[in-house]
Amino acid sequence: MTTDLRIKDFKRIVFFTGAGLSAESGIPTYRGQGGLWHEYDWETYACQKAFDRDPAAVWKFHNMRRAAVAACAPNKAHLAIARCEALLPDVTVVTQNIDGFHPLVGSRNLFELHGSLWRVRCDTCGAIKDNRDLPFEDLRCGKGWWRPDIVWFGDHLREDVIEGASKAISACDLLVSIGTSGVVYPAAQLPRLAQRAGAVTIEINPEPTPMSDAYEVCLRMGASEAMALLCQGLDV
Ligand code: OAD
Repeated sequence: MTTDLRIKDFKRIVFFTGAGLSAESGIPTYRGQGGLWHEYDWETYACQKAFDRDPAAVWKFHNMRRAAVAACAPNKAHLAIARCEALLPDVTVVTQNIDGFHPLVGSRNLFELHGSLWRVRCDTCGAIKDNRDLPFEDLRCGKGWWRPDIVWFGDHLREDVIEGASKAISACDLLVSIGTSGVVYPAAQLPRLAQRAGAVTIEINPEPTPMSDAYEVCLRMGASEAMALLCQGLDV
């Protein structure tokens, strides 16, 4: 399917992004062929219980992920999204990605629903700091431990982040979802808010997803090809 819809014709735009956006950068997605959760068991590496049991093992996994992301670079689709924000008055990015590529290319009006690989949080005092060490090895914070500031399985999303994202999505007139399987809640249900509010909704994903029915238009192609199509008429 193709479309005549163009981003420049909308006033309040939300990009809702997932791991498929960074696939063309060389970062593996979580599910599907080559998906991270096929190779690594989240119960061993990506939940608070695992961290309480063995913080060093969990950090080893996240240091591997930091190194993998550091070896890659944002792609044309990340750049096009940031360019839209620079050129248009009201563009918001709501991402499930933790790779930090959106802020790296200049997306500022940004909600990182699942946190960031490049921040750490003390599991005892709650302090948060930016940190880009490769590897991160200074694990102690007073009596506590620095853990990745990521929403692991079983963690709650930050309330201010989910509220801000929900507000932007409920008020948009165009929602473009890019590269998400739509199976991880509560993030997966957010595009429904745009659908209910009467916004135009577009899904960019080479494969259909359980959320495809929430979208008026489904572009079955990769992120950068689809963004080039939707951005026609803009100097991206
Ligand atoms: P998934 O790995 O579940 O899904 C990635 C989606 O991207 C799939 O539907 C693919 O078909 C699609 N895809 C692959 N290549 C693409 C391309 N070039 N262009 C566009 N789409 C492409 O990733 P998410 O939906 O982001 O949580 O996963 C959601 C959450 O589950 C993640 O945030 C992560 C994970 O557990 C945390 O890290 C906390």
